[in-house]
This record gives sequence, structure tokens and C-alpha cells, in this order.
Amino acid sequence: MKFFLDTANLDELKKGAAWGIVDGVTTNPTLIAKEGVPIEEQVRKICDIVDGDVSAEVVSTTSKEMIEEGRRLAKIHKNIVVKVPLIREGIVACSTLAREGIRTNVTLCFSAAQALMAAKAGAYIISPFIGRVDDIGWNGMDLIREIVTIYKNYGYNTQILAASIRGPLHVIDAAKAGAHIGTMPFKVLDQLFNHPLTDKGLDQFLKDYKKAFELVPA
Ligand code: E4P
Repeated sequence: MKFFLDTANLDELKKGAAWGIVDGVTTNPTLIAKEGVPIEEQVRKICDIVDGDVSAEVVSTTSKEMIEEGRRLAKIHKNIVVKVPLIREGIVACSTLAREGIRTNVTLCFSAAQALMAAKAGAYIISPFIGRVDDIGWNGMDLIREIVTIYKNYGYNTQILAASIRGPLHVIDAAKAGAHIGTMPFKVLDQLFNHPLTDKGLDQFLKDYKKAFELVPA
């Protein structure tokens, strides 16, 4: 499973990249707005930090404008993946950009039917939002499982990216369900390290070693 960081914050990206386990980045207009830097400028900086797919989302809503915006974003760096919303105009933009060889991430996916349309339109990535589905009392992981089955049935190459991840269990369950990518906030990536038995075990190993060699005369 590929790990992406769902942030536009450069400090978080630097920390994550230093661990050597970050395969890419997803941003959205909300995350970019939080950093207060225009998207083109911010994603260029992100591409200098993480060597992997970096999703940059369009903010226009007509297919014509999305296509133009997508072309501009794709020119920023070879690793840019153009993110378009799963609306009618977004699907038109996705097919056009796909035909031009521009990779797209179709976002705001909340149903298997939507995911099927994105695959048919040639999406490089589909982003089902599991946390937001859970928030309304449905099961986000069932959505991932449905998409995995449908894509396998027809041999679609579109990668399934589990988005809107809220904690380590979402990451584990998405991996078990067969999602190709999990995108998560920095906090969740950091939480994946934690296990009390790791801390306890390491503490004991170091104590034992110190005790043994402190006893040996120099
Ligand atoms: C994915 O690409 C989105 O940016 C993100 O996962 C949305 O997550 P949220 O529901 O926590 O805002």
C-alpha cells in the first residue's frame, strides 16, 4: 500500500519525507487555503520535498475551465496529478485530460457508481472519502470494498485511494480491503508508529544491556 500525506504543510511534509515512507501527497483547496499560499506556488514547493505523485485540485466548476486549469497545473511539475471533483463537468474534464496523457485524481467520491464512472473516464486515481461516509452513519470501508470488487471485475487500472482517513484503524482496514493508496493527515501517519509493547520492549533491552556491561570491569 502506498502512503500519501494529506496536507499542504511543508514542515509536516519534510518530517514525513525524512522517514522515507511517504510515496506522495494529496492537497485540496481547504488544505492549501490553510497555508495561505497560492496553489501553484505551494505545490511547486511540495514537489521539491516529496518525490512522488502530488495531487493539486482545480477550483473551477465548468469542464472548459477545469481542463485549462488542469493543463496549467500539470505543467508545474512532472509529478503533479490534477484533482477534479466527481461532478458531471469533472468527468468531462477527466476524460479530456486523460486523452491528453494528463493524470487525474477524481475526488469527492461517495458511491461505487461514481467510482465506476471515474474509471470509465480514465481516472488515474479515484478518491473515496471514507471518514466523511462514516460521519453520516454509513460504512466508508464497505465503499472501498465495493470499488475494489468492481475494478477487479473489469480490470480497470484506476488506483483506489482511501481518503478522509481519521485514524490508524482506517489505514489497516483500507489495506485489508485492497486500497492501493491511503492518504492521511500527518498526525495519523505519526500514530502508526505507536505501540506500548515496542516502547516497553526497547526500554528493557537497553536497561539489560547497560546493566550487563556496567558490571564488566574496564
Ligand atoms: C483527499 O484527497 C482529501 O483531501 C481528504 O482526504 C479529505 O479528508 P477530510 O474528510 O478529513 O477533510
